[in-house]
Amino acid sequence: MPDATPPLTDTLAACAEAVLRTQGGRDKTALSRACAQAWFAARAAGTPMAVGRATPPLRPARPEKPELLSPRDVPRRRPGSPEGRKAILHAVAHIELNAVDLHWDIIARFTDTPMPIGFYDDWVKAADEEAKHFNLVSDCLEAMGSFYGDLPAHAGMWRAAEDTAEDLMGRLAVVPMVLEARGLDVTPGMIEVFRKAKDDGAVAALEVIYGEEVAHVAYGSKWFHFLCGRHEMDPKDAFHTLVRRYFHAPLKPPFNAEKRAEAGIPPDFYWPLTEPEAQIAPSEP
Ligand SMILES: [Fe+2]
Ligand SMILES: [Fe+2]
Repeated sequence: MPDATPPLTDTLAACAEAVLRTQGGRDKTALSRACAQAWFAARAAGTPMAVGRATPPLRPARPEKPELLSPRDVPRRRPGSPEGRKAILHAVAHIELNAVDLHWDIIARFTDTPMPIGFYDDWVKAADEEAKHFNLVSDCLEAMGSFYGDLPAHAGMWRAAEDTAEDLMGRLAVVPMVLEARGLDVTPGMIEVFRKAKDDGAVAALEVIYGEEVAHVAYGSKWFHFLCGRHEMDPKDAFHTLVRRYFHAPLKPPFNAEKRAEAGIPPDFYWPLTEPEAQIAPSEP
């Protein structure tokens, strides 16, 4: 077995693999940020790191806690209560830690597909921001007397990565363009919950996340369209085919049409993937 926390290495793919094999949440985010800094420092100096190759694990290393449960077994709490707010932040921390791994995984797993260097710039930047998001939300949990690992978390979150481990276009369609786009839909409601509770720290953290996630969705759309162009495919049709193949549920309105548009995802990409009953709804907000 390789060491769980190898030092920074000299190719980007090896850095990515090192993050994926790091177990602790704060350790993983520290290495994620250090790798991003090394990548961008070399880019600025005009001596970019080689992308190289790696053998990323099928599932990333994770801390022993939180306990991972099937979504139906994760207890629900009233969002208005302090326990409910703690549960929301814990769920967000879990999503952010998954996102750190997802962005390094897309870098390490598809090195056989030649991509412009901007592809790597985008995902390294996104992985750096996810690491910051995890730290911000963990700080909020700690300010409440809790911590990441205190509650059980959703077990299914890596499924999209496993299902698309051999399909870069499928990965782009499902991870940034479906899952991260969903974050744009639900984050304003979460910000409202914490605003009502006068938790300024959590509001500030969630506003940073909301502001930066638009770009992650946009990177997904950009590189998805790039690959469609390379293969002379119609982007909308390809998106529908791949989401139906790899994502096992209908998309749920209401959608944040404005932020989705800003991220390069028009309504005719997502509305046909909702349940038929949703499609006869008069209009979206
Ligand atoms: Fe994030
Ligand atoms: Fe993200």
